[in-house]
Amino acid sequence: MPMVDPRFSILSEDFAADPYRHFARLRDEAPVHHEPAIDSYFLSRYRDVKRVLSDHDTFTTQTLQVRAEPVMRGPVLARMTGAEHSAKRKIVVCGFTGPALQEQIRAVRTKAAELIAPFLPRGRLDLVNDFGRLLAVHVTLDVLGLDKKDWQQFADWHRGVAEFITSVVLTPERRRHCLHCAEQLEACLVPVIRQRRRHPGEDLISRLCTAEFDGIAMSDREVTALIINVLAAATEPADKTLALLFKHLIDHPEQLAQVRRDPALLPAAIADTLRHTPPVQLVPRQAERDTVFAGGTVPAGATVFCMIGAANRDPDAFAAPDTFDIHRPDLGTARSFTAAAQHLAFGTGLHQCVGAAFARAEIETVAAMLLPQLDQVRFTPGFRYQVCLVPRFAPGGRFRLVEETTLLVTGHPDDGNLELVK
Ligand code: HEM
Repeated sequence: MPMVDPRFSILSEDFAADPYRHFARLRDEAPVHHEPAIDSYFLSRYRDVKRVLSDHDTFTTQTLQVRAEPVMRGPVLARMTGAEHSAKRKIVVCGFTGPALQEQIRAVRTKAAELIAPFLPRGRLDLVNDFGRLLAVHVTLDVLGLDKKDWQQFADWHRGVAEFITSVVLTPERRRHCLHCAEQLEACLVPVIRQRRRHPGEDLISRLCTAEFDGIAMSDREVTALIINVLAAATEPADKTLALLFKHLIDHPEQLAQVRRDPALLPAAIADTLRHTPPVQLVPRQAERDTVFAGGTVPAGATVFCMIGAANRDPDAFAAPDTFDIHRPDLGTARSFTAAAQHLAFGTGLHQCVGAAFARAEIETVAAMLLPQLDQVRFTPGFRYQVCLVPRFAPGGRFRLVEETTLLVTGHPDDGNLELVK
């Protein structure tokens, strides 16, 4: 089914300027959209995305072998299958649930209070760059049991790893830089892994080193890959979701007032933030055989991108899908952070996010702390929200798999109120 305009491209500047504007047309007219420049297929309908993510035999994660593993220094969870995948996934899940989760959330609260303290008298805070990004890195290092005094170094290496994973075309120089970051990260992790094998603590690295499921234990190389996997997977989406939650609440003052009056509504607000503007926008898979969809056929061997943002706005799945509504009856807050989630922000099926419950607890804790402090939170005049889910060949050939947001918070020192500005 051809698009109305055959020149339409997901890689165009026009699409990049406001991707959400194009989603309805993609779902209606080109639900299996082919991008010749990168020979990849983009699926935008909810039912097609769900099918791809659930049919693990037909749509595999083989693409990650070249897209992620060189910088993960070993096999990533998302590329494993069968007994190996479920055993190692269980080890990671245990690090983010039950008593471990309670302990981590206490640490999140302490860290958030520490990070925000210097900004309160100053009355100006960039929610992403001064707070969210730092918090996410610190929290992830905490969970892993890595030394937070090295956070800037870890953040720099993480940036190199993320650049590699999210780029489709890297110049040889950038590729060298990314691989160098990954090698340095690995060199720093290996002695830590060896030390935790001898003296395990309560942290995730110790669990990865000592746990065995179904007789499966992990080598240094596998532990390294899982640590980098968690480092890369946990930081970026969490800080984006926090920023987007504030954006939506400021855009909907009546819902902001309700959440302030009743913080028990926060999980619903986080759930609809994830549905409405999922921070991970594109999830790649490889088709193992020719597959027919209502709008076209994907050939065997092709790369398929699941467009999570478009699927989550499909009117076949959600009523009034473009509306942010913390009371929407078709989402279900309780299940939004579980395997039964209706939205697809955490993916679905075998590789659904292992950090969903942790992400909910982290964002809820931090938002509940921030809301009373930002008692008149607002955008400063001129604020413009820029979604950048691309894939596009920006200068340097970047191919972003995630959405970029910029939200700044500033306020008035004299009344202690804060506002969001650009
Ligand atoms: C709002 C925050 C988050 C969002 C929206 C998110 C989203 C996702 C998505 C879409 C996937 C599926 C990828 C695929 O199917 O290929 C995924 C997988 C994963 N996520 Fe998250 N994530 C978030 C937070 C976290 C956190 C906090 C952690 C760690 C604590 C984490 C760890 C992982 C891991 C290890 C996987 C791979 C699971 C597997 O392959 O079995 N994520 N995430």
